[in-house]
Amino acid sequence: MKTQVGIVGAGPAGLVLSHLLHLSGIQSVVLEAHRRGYVEERVRAGVLEQGTADLLRDTGVGERMSRQGLRHHGIELQFGRSRHRIDFAELTGGKGVTVYAQHEVLKDLIQARLEAGGQILFEVEGVSVQELQGPKPQIRFRKDGNDQELECDFIGGCDGFHGICRPSIPEGALKIFEKAYPFAWLGILAEAPPSSQELIYAHHERGFALLSMRSATISRLYLQCAPEEDILSWEDARIWEELHRRFEVVEGRMLQKGITGMRSFVAEPMQYGRLFLAGDSAHIVPPTGAKGLNLAVADVRVLAAAIAEYYRSGSTELLDRYSERCLRRVWKVQRFSWWMTSMLHRFADDNPFDVRRQLAELDYVTSSRAASQTLAENYVGLPFE
Ligand code: FAD
Ligand code: DHB
Repeated sequence: MKTQVGIVGAGPAGLVLSHLLHLSGIQSVVLEAHRRGYVEERVRAGVLEQGTADLLRDTGVGERMSRQGLRHHGIELQFGRSRHRIDFAELTGGKGVTVYAQHEVLKDLIQARLEAGGQILFEVEGVSVQELQGPKPQIRFRKDGNDQELECDFIGGCDGFHGICRPSIPEGALKIFEKAYPFAWLGILAEAPPSSQELIYAHHERGFALLSMRSATISRLYLQCAPEEDILSWEDARIWEELHRRFEVVEGRMLQKGITGMRSFVAEPMQYGRLFLAGDSAHIVPPTGAKGLNLAVADVRVLAAAIAEYYRSGSTELLDRYSERCLRRVWKVQRFSWWMTSMLHRFADDNPFDVRRQLAELDYVTSSRAASQTLAENYVGLPFE
């Protein structure tokens, strides 16, 4: 098999890349380890930056998002038993975010790619990437028990944090920057009307909590918990009890629950020969800023433009600058996600000084226009170059 761009992974990075390349008349094949149903149902992120939602709409895959997504113009910060609104629309000149589940974005992209004749191969096994420094890199894999080889001009390494693309780069070619956090998030999806119109990020003496939603009848809620916590030890009643302690919530049937670890991670550079890393394969942010999916989309926006320029003019200038251009945004988003995380969570070794400092920071962020604006412009998404 041959194609122009071989893409490993059908997450937000891989599917948006394939979609954008198609719009520039460039062929790609997407290889995905899981089955289609798994990709389309797996509950993960839910907040789209202004620029991410605009991109989906402008490229023809935002119709259902525009109908079913919830447009939010602010968030609430809760601390010291009171709530303070950050008004994004007023602070950013009318920008906001769209609450629309990641797996719904993926459903829309998969449908659009397949309708346009795009190739997505699900349930591939034993994927490996070869000849990355040569002009024709290859991807080897097994599909339905048959060994196959895909020859391409470029490879998009969009296979997430646990994928094979980043580990295929020789040791020593990458520099890794990493930070662990001493906590995790327990997330639930519940059949319950959200008790607030907007997201609530809560600082609480028992730990951080987040109220989000998917619709007028479905709540998405998160609780800070210990990193080694076993979800089996969290019966529904215990989760509700803990949520009630941290803020006002309406109970309902629990549809899903899980624990997500937290880390900050960056691999530099995001390129090795003709392999380009994008999204979680290159970097991870803690979820507090709602940035993981948005950063993946921002990477492939740069990558698709660079690949299109190569096919248009033969110039590799934009491809050569891919990593440097992405990393400027990646580090700003890392900074924001780390900052939101450190301001809102309870640290195990909390010194009372640090708790007072967090509360002062929250007070400052919600009372100074300059500080609120800093939060708002990062949350709705920094402008593109
Ligand atoms: P992914 O979405 O991980 O996609 C990678 C794809 O590659 C997957 O479909 C995977 O099956 C496939 N793949 C992996 N290895 C191979 C292989 N060897 N061969 C072929 N295919 C392969 N972010 C937030 O902002 N808020 C949240 O609440 C939030 N919750 C999360 C919960 C969980 C459990 C996880 C894991 C992440 C969460 N994130 C959240 C982060 C966000 O979902 C990611 O940043 C986003 O999915 C990144 O997109 P991606 O395309 O880079 O990677
Ligand atoms: C959601 C997830 C986040 O990480 C976040 O910061 C806000 C909302 C969500 O899943 O709705």
